[in-house]
Amino acid sequence: MIRRRLILPGLLTTLFALTAGFNNLSAQQPSDQEGNIAVSPIEDLMREHGVLRRILLIYEKELKGMDNDKNPQYDVIFKSANIIHEFIEGYHEKLEEDHIFPIFEKAVKLTDLTKTLREQHEAGRKLTREILRFSKAKETGSKDNPNALAGNLRSFIKMYRPHAAREDTVLLPALRKFISEKEYDELGDKFEDKERELFGENGFENIVKEVEDIEKSLGIYELSRFTPAGKL
Ligand SMILES: [Fe+2]
Ligand SMILES: [Fe+2]
Repeated sequence: MIRRRLILPGLLTTLFALTAGFNNLSAQQPSDQEGNIAVSPIEDLMREHGVLRRILLIYEKELKGMDNDKNPQYDVIFKSANIIHEFIEGYHEKLEEDHIFPIFEKAVKLTDLTKTLREQHEAGRKLTREILRFSKAKETGSKDNPNALAGNLRSFIKMYRPHAAREDTVLLPALRKFISEKEYDELGDKFEDKERELFGENGFENIVKEVEDIEKSLGIYELSRFTPAGKL
């Protein structure tokens, strides 16, 4: 069965038309009658990590400002932490906890890793709860110490970079050893149903757009600004 979770067709058509491997790629990946390409569960989780990493960049930008004695933009921090709360905690990590980690735990493989990943999800929830509480309270005139917010943001970044990197390079690449093709496909359907239930059609694209808008407001949207200046 071809899953109905589809990448924006226009963007892909343009991208693939520019590559010599267009025909090969089309032949390998399932698509519907309009040529939209299905997204596998692993690819799905990895691109959600991309959203997480972009939020880490937003947090870093705010921290840099705070280090230079600039007032934090509490609304930006709140909006970003809310994406973490709803999309990462409420959806992405829930999928991992309910559908990915149990596959390894049942097979008694990588269980030290899943234990740590579960603990880190819990720690992440506590940090985000504090980040949300603080950034919201600040908007309403709280006198809380901004150092506490900075500390929580730093702890969050420090934990989630290795967390997502380990899932991307160790856990997710091992997943297919422990489930059948059919189970893998069914997993994709479950992910898709949950995403649509929580975020509607084009849920992922809409979340990315929200992140982009925040990046633009901070002047960190243009990818080229991360290229080293001058001659290398
Ligand atoms: Fe995770
Ligand atoms: Fe993850």
